[in-house]
Amino acid sequence: MASLDRICDRLLSQRSLILASNRGPVEHYVAPDGRAEARRGSGGIVTALNSLAQGAQFTWVASAMGEGDRQVAAAAQSSPYKSPLPGHKIDLKYVVTPRRVYHKYYNVLCNPLLWFLQHYMWNPPYNPNVDASVHDAWQGGYIPVNRAFADSVIEQARQGDSPPVVMVHDYHLYLVPEMVRKEFPDALIQHFVHIPWPTPRYWQMIPSFITRQICSSLVSADIVGFQTAQDRQSFLDTVEEFVPGARVDREQHCIRREDLTTSVRLYPLSINVSEVQRISNSPRALEHEDKLMEARSGTATIVRIDRAEPNKNVVRGFRAYELLLSRHPELHGKVNFLAFLVPSRTHIRQYQRYMEEINQVVARINEAYGSEDWQPITTYMENNYTQAIAGMKLYDVLLVNSIMEGMNLVAKEGPVVNTRDGVLVLSQTSGAYEQLADGALPVSPTDIEGTMEALFEAINMGPEERRRRAAVLAESVNREDINHWICRQLEDLADLAER
Ligand code: G6P
Repeated sequence: MASLDRICDRLLSQRSLILASNRGPVEHYVAPDGRAEARRGSGGIVTALNSLAQGAQFTWVASAMGEGDRQVAAAAQSSPYKSPLPGHKIDLKYVVTPRRVYHKYYNVLCNPLLWFLQHYMWNPPYNPNVDASVHDAWQGGYIPVNRAFADSVIEQARQGDSPPVVMVHDYHLYLVPEMVRKEFPDALIQHFVHIPWPTPRYWQMIPSFITRQICSSLVSADIVGFQTAQDRQSFLDTVEEFVPGARVDREQHCIRREDLTTSVRLYPLSINVSEVQRISNSPRALEHEDKLMEARSGTATIVRIDRAEPNKNVVRGFRAYELLLSRHPELHGKVNFLAFLVPSRTHIRQYQRYMEEINQVVARINEAYGSEDWQPITTYMENNYTQAIAGMKLYDVLLVNSIMEGMNLVAKEGPVVNTRDGVLVLSQTSGAYEQLADGALPVSPTDIEGTMEALFEAINMGPEERRRRAAVLAESVNREDINHWICRQLEDLADLAER
């Protein structure tokens, strides 16, 4: 595969690139003196695309999410401006929408509805209830924010001499491809879906006008990217069911409609191996590591690192550990569990409730099994990536038992920084499982008994088998790291541009 520079030259010598994602690469917070200070945005998309932001010149369109972003956007008067972060070659363009509209889009439609739907997180006899407020959030939140993004992309594209390359990310912006296509029939448009795509039967549970509009917009893109073969399959099935006149070709993985062909491709997301390793060896990480070594006790350390969100299945993970302690008293004082949990989407009720449940189960286990000199679980509830990376260095067992997930990057970060031939216990329903199955111990996310057994097996695994598995995992991640992910997408776009 050619280098990122060469592919960027090939693709971007004639056309400009515009990238759109809800969360941007830079977030501004208001400092005590009232000025907006910039720092790197959080979240998977930003991490994934950081090396592109350092290697290529393009415009990144994102939501002004907090007050700091809004201040900066107002000062820039919706024009792009140079990213203030060192190493970035990009321009930033913020999309500002009224707070009420943004609330409906993010806190009603994107997360409680689409995120829960796409992660199979409902309890259908009871929820969701798609009532008037959800209909209103579609009309008065999701559509207008997507319109505002499309308008911003279109305005930017008009500055160039030739039709742009537009890369759109994730479930927040499903309607953007069709809106941009109407203005720029010759644009090259790619949409990458980071999260799972359920089967059409599941999509049928929400009003079909929503699913239809989402699918017809996505098939206005030249390429739609997914993490796994199962997601791609479900997408093809959903389009066949919901988009009148769409002809689905399952051998070529494409959809034909009038004069447009949409290729549906697989690009499993990965990590920046050298960056993660650099952070793990930084003085800050070493300091954290020393402190964590003090919290560690006994012979085996289980680690988990997640956003504190229901889909990550944190509570069942602790219940499996509780079962382990109850079945194996010989492990008391010999194992410990370090959990690094980043608060997430804290305005959404389900997330608040889940956080409470996490706290309750941790308190219960520590109370029931802890002693003066042994605390079974230690939690770190903060967004501290360096500390989490330090935690990854010292696990004997890494637990990733998510319910359903697009990929899961912790399962890829762990094996390239861990120093103890740690064992990965991995949910079969995480996207990462397709690539990491050979090295991991599989678990079903609902199977508390099975997760307990997997933890026990991991703790007691002999050194040779541990070494073998750790090497398989690290090799798999090194083979297809983040540059591979970006380069393959840009190469596919360059091939299309040259057709
Ligand atoms: C995770 C998912 C991404 C998604 C993001 C949104 O990181 O993997 O696909 O875009 O969540 O998170 P946010 O914090 O912006 O709601």
